[in-house]
Amino acid sequence: MERLAIRFYSLSILFWSISPILAASIPHGVHIKRQISELAPQYDYIIAGGGTSGLTVADRLTAAFPRRSVLVVEYGNLSNSTALLTPAATVLNPQFAFNILSEPQPHLSNRSFTVTVGKVVGGCSAINAQMFDRGSAADYDAWGDVAGQEYREAGWTWDGLLPYFRKSTTFTPPSAADVEKYGYTYDVEAAYGGDGPIHAIYPPFQWPSEKIMREAWKDLGVPSPIEGAGGDATGVFWIPSSQDPKTQTRSYARTGHYDAVANRSNYHLLVGHKVTELVLTRNGNGRRIEAQGVKIQAVSGNSSAIEVRSDQEVILAAGAIHTPGILQRSGIGPSNVLTAAGIEVKVELPGVGQNFQDHAISSMFYNLTTDVSPNPMQMFMNATLMQEARRQYEQNKTGPLTLSGGNSGAFIPLSTLTNNSQSIISALSAQSPSAYFPNGTHSTIIEGYQSQLDMLKNLLSSKEAATFEYPISPGGAIPVLLKPLSRGSVNINSKIPAGEPLINYRTFSNPLDLTMFIEGAKIMRRLYSTRSAKTLGSVEMFPGDAVITDSEWRVWLEKSVSPSFYHPVGTAALMPKSLGGVVDPELRVHGVESLRVVDASVMPLIPGTHTSSTVYAVAEKAAEVIIRDGGRD
Ligand SMILES: Cc1cc2nc3c(=O)[nH]c(=O)nc-3n(C[C@H](O)[C@H](O)[C@H](O)COP(=O)(O)OP(=O)(O)OC[C@H]3O[C@@H](n4cnc5c(N)ncnc54)[C@H](O)[C@@H]3O)c2cc1C
Ligand SMILES: *[C@@H]1O[C@H](CO)[C@@H](O)[C@H](O)[C@H]1NC(C)=O
Ligand SMILES: *[C@@H]1O[C@H](CO)[C@@H](O)[C@H](O)[C@H]1NC(C)=O
Ligand SMILES: *[C@@H]1O[C@H](CO)[C@@H](O)[C@H](O)[C@H]1NC(C)=O
Ligand SMILES: *[C@@H]1O[C@H](CO)[C@@H](O)[C@H](O)[C@H]1NC(C)=O
Ligand SMILES: *[C@@H]1O[C@H](CO)[C@@H](O)[C@H](O)[C@H]1NC(C)=O
Ligand SMILES: *[C@@H]1O[C@H](CO)[C@@H](O)[C@H](O)[C@H]1NC(C)=O
Ligand SMILES: *[C@@H]1O[C@H](CO)[C@@H](O)[C@H](O)[C@H]1NC(C)=O
Ligand SMILES: *[C@@H]1O[C@H](CO)[C@@H](O)[C@H](O)[C@H]1NC(C)=O
Ligand SMILES: *[C@@H]1O[C@H](CO)[C@@H](O)[C@H](O)[C@H]1NC(C)=O
Ligand SMILES: *[C@@H]1O[C@H](CO)[C@@H](O)[C@H](O)[C@H]1NC(C)=O
Repeated sequence: MERLAIRFYSLSILFWSISPILAASIPHGVHIKRQISELAPQYDYIIAGGGTSGLTVADRLTAAFPRRSVLVVEYGNLSNSTALLTPAATVLNPQFAFNILSEPQPHLSNRSFTVTVGKVVGGCSAINAQMFDRGSAADYDAWGDVAGQEYREAGWTWDGLLPYFRKSTTFTPPSAADVEKYGYTYDVEAAYGGDGPIHAIYPPFQWPSEKIMREAWKDLGVPSPIEGAGGDATGVFWIPSSQDPKTQTRSYARTGHYDAVANRSNYHLLVGHKVTELVLTRNGNGRRIEAQGVKIQAVSGNSSAIEVRSDQEVILAAGAIHTPGILQRSGIGPSNVLTAAGIEVKVELPGVGQNFQDHAISSMFYNLTTDVSPNPMQMFMNATLMQEARRQYEQNKTGPLTLSGGNSGAFIPLSTLTNNSQSIISALSAQSPSAYFPNGTHSTIIEGYQSQLDMLKNLLSSKEAATFEYPISPGGAIPVLLKPLSRGSVNINSKIPAGEPLINYRTFSNPLDLTMFIEGAKIMRRLYSTRSAKTLGSVEMFPGDAVITDSEWRVWLEKSVSPSFYHPVGTAALMPKSLGGVVDPELRVHGVESLRVVDASVMPLIPGTHTSSTVYAVAEKAAEVIIRDGGRD
């Protein structure tokens, strides 16, 4: 998996060696704390996790309630490193990430995988590949349809979320010259129009092979909508970068939602500390459970956990990998998991840590032996060209270093991949949902899964929702499964409840995922045989000639697929408790007062897109709900 990630992000990885090239002149919060002793005795709101969603909500709350105090507790540090800001130098830097080893994956040859999530102020938005796209309208409508009327009416649909997508972001159109040069297309009215502090732009550079690979998809008859972020995310389209138009540096939760507002006197950020669990109290003769604060512990050293009280609410924003653990350690979760760890069950909530989803990716690789000039390989091999790229970035904020993970991709419905899509959907209809979970899985989880499968049948049949993505990046195109049927789990380790969780992707535990993946992989051969791709001299390196038949594909994919495209979601889902859900339509944890979840954990179904823009939109909506409930200052 490391090899694969490096291939996809090869451009970025190779830039690590580049020494800092930007002056570190980032505004600095006056209210940053490094010790628990510097904190106030209590806050109105406490947010666990200063990442993508946590900083978004903190910004909106401190603005709306100038007389109420907000504490954000973040595991990582505030880093001024230029490595976080230069688009081509940023992703997968282990210094800023948790690197947890997953459980061995039985359907992936028992391999274990490194789970990478951000561990720095800004969270994953500080280390991601800046691909800033959205799923199809149908992907978000499926959230409301899976969860039911109450959730639909509360706006967990495309129409309900679009205002927050718009609000979260400022889109700056590319220059006329760049539109002419690269063929950028966009539709501001359909997708943007907001003035949020996260920037979306098209960078002032693309490799020439990018245009050719887009043409290759068009050779296959794939349409190319002018805008992918307005609800139609199928076909081959342009994907903006979350990047500042003036500086051509990463635009992320810290730059957008912290630096500019860190001087607010009601905003405290504690770094280098973790929330270990919640402080829960019983009210009303023990019938109501309420969150009244958190336990906080320094990440390094031996100090014990200290309680800090919240007068209004505790808000969990530690991401889909760490939010479930905070709940489970507090006694909120599946009783079998809690009991095994010796934790008293305070609120039996079977869905906490379940419904785990991510996008699996394959490691097919094509060598473009006659790639046009300039191309990334030339530059890596040639110190002079590398030096030139640095000068362009330093002097003019242009050139290859303005590129992060890439700016386009093909998003393909199942029926475009294969003439067998109906037989896959029929096989899905015939499945018994309980067969794809470990024995002992709670019945509500199976109920929720059944509701999801009903919806996935529609999505897999639809021409308006993508089943595979093929990002067009400097590392070539790779298949990404956007509509996984398999469900995993993230549970505390019963032997070390305070440590990192047991992460079980359970990729391909529903065998139809592998069936779909075979089709998703095969189209690559058609793609690279098109007239356009042939001009690049494409030669298949992996898997190559030895893999032809479906059974050969099957064996190869089990050995080579990686379970994650760094999009973990779903572990505290927006669904009723009867469907294995964890939060209600207002993002309140079922059965607990004054406690919400606002991060990627709440997505009930993973959308067919990179996840950051959706996290910002959900967090913007969450902030509005919290502000509305909180009344006036
Ligand atoms: C390598 C990588 C590449 C990616 N590429 C893209 C991309 O190109 N485009 C895209 O749209 N998305 C991408 N993503 C995904 C996207 O960035 C995430 O989905 C999104 O940022 C998650 O936001 P979040 O708020 O849920 O969690 P995070 O942003 O991860 O925030 C969680 C925060 O909580 C902190 N934390 C954890 N546990 C505790 C605790 N106990 N106490 C206190 N703090 C805690 C963490 O340090 C972190 O800062 C990528 C992700 C990664 C890791
Ligand atoms: C970051 O930069 C600011 C301003 O340049 C400085 O005051 C601050 O100490 C730096 N922070 C760290 C963690 O280096
Ligand atoms: C934060 O910075 C300190 C000091 O440089 C370092 O010791 C610590 O490991 C860092 N913490 C994290 C979580 O990266
Ligand atoms: C994976 O491990 C399990 C348990 O150790 C074993 O039964 C199974 O045969 C292994 N599978 C593969 C593909 O190695
Ligand atoms: C914070 O700084 C900004 C910009 O410098 C300024 O406009 C604002 O008044 C300051 N706010 C506080 C509360 O000091
Ligand atoms: C933590 O405690 C152990 C045992 O009490 C001690 O040996 C160790 O030095 C302590 N570490 C730190 C960083 O204080
Ligand atoms: C790709 O092809 C070129 C030109 O034939 C060759 O020099 C290079 O080694 C190949 N790269 C890989 C990774 O095989
Ligand atoms: C590196 O690139 C420069 C500029 O294009 C060129 O002049 C030089 O010959 C190249 N060096 C090698 C070793 O290919
Ligand atoms: C920067 O732009 C100027 C003006 O277009 C140009 O003359 C100069 O060569 C550029 N610098 C680099 C390093 O490309
Ligand atoms: C689907 O069937 C049509 C008509 O028989 C054929 O032209 C096409 O190549 C098939 N597509 C795939 C993906 O096999
Ligand atoms: C799960 O239950 C089924 C049916 O009751 C049984 O056949 C199977 O052996 C069980 N699997 C495990 C791993 O316990």
